[in-house]
Amino acid sequence: LKIFSGGSNPDLATEICGNIGIHLSPMETSRFSNDNLFVQIKESVREKDVFVVQSLSTPVSDHLMELMITLDALRSASAKRITAVIPYYSYARSDKKDAPRISIAARLVADLLKTAGADRVLTMDLHADAVHGFFSIPVDHLTAIPTICDYFAAFLDLSKVVVVATDAGGAKRAGRFAKRLDTSLAIIDKRRLSDSDVQQGLVVGNVKGLDAIIFDDEISTGGTLVSTVETLSRAGAAKVYVGATHPVLCGHAVEKLNQTFISEIVVTNTVHVPVEKQFPQLKSLSVA
Ligand code: R5P
Repeated sequence: LKIFSGGSNPDLATEICGNIGIHLSPMETSRFSNDNLFVQIKESVREKDVFVVQSLSTPVSDHLMELMITLDALRSASAKRITAVIPYYSYARSDKKDAPRISIAARLVADLLKTAGADRVLTMDLHADAVHGFFSIPVDHLTAIPTICDYFAAFLDLSKVVVVATDAGGAKRAGRFAKRLDTSLAIIDKRRLSDSDVQQGLVVGNVKGLDAIIFDDEISTGGTLVSTVETLSRAGAAKVYVGATHPVLCGHAVEKLNQTFISEIVVTNTVHVPVEKQFPQLKSLSVA
């Protein structure tokens, strides 16, 4: 068994290696002067069971290209089985044809990974469960729900907690979170106005006087969370906590979240958060 890491999250790959007691295998990525990426695997992988850890975090296209070139290099080097470990599969958000003349890029990228050499994919908390089925190779779809639930269960009085889904699409995911904590569930009616703006209205379920845990797959621009916190405080929620698997935190997300009344935002290390994006309410749990 050998584990390699692309450039997106070497800390997570190193931690995974530590947990199973092996070293991270060396590979080298560089860029030619014409901007082409170059990847070289630095030890033999002949007949080995090989894993490549690479989240599709910013810059997504570079990380995706690095992953595909790595998969191709491993296949050319006669690896026996190649698993692409993609803790954050960003293209899962492009999962349906909801406008004319667009690509369902979640399926396109799934095809590209197979073409590049992946025999199998291991990923976490896809934006939509259906994306699992876009792959024609085996996929292990893991979840950070137990990790995040256990964290909250350790200090909150669960009889006073309601789990909140930010929209109908996330209701099943938040429902699984609520089931594990044995709490009630509330769902908010959300309309997306643009990539970064959302509008919310009706809260389905009771949040008055309860501590709310908003559970979502990712925090991207932070627009959904800011709006959800406002909606919950209008509806009379007490404290507001957040659990989200992928801390994408793009654009002005950190500034926006710093101005909201969120007691704690609990994320995981599927996406590396650089020091300049860390802030006091943000707590990262390991999924290594
Ligand atoms: C819903 O579309 C997703 O589950 C997340 O709520 C969304 O991706 C978060 O995006 P943003 O932080 O940009 O509102």
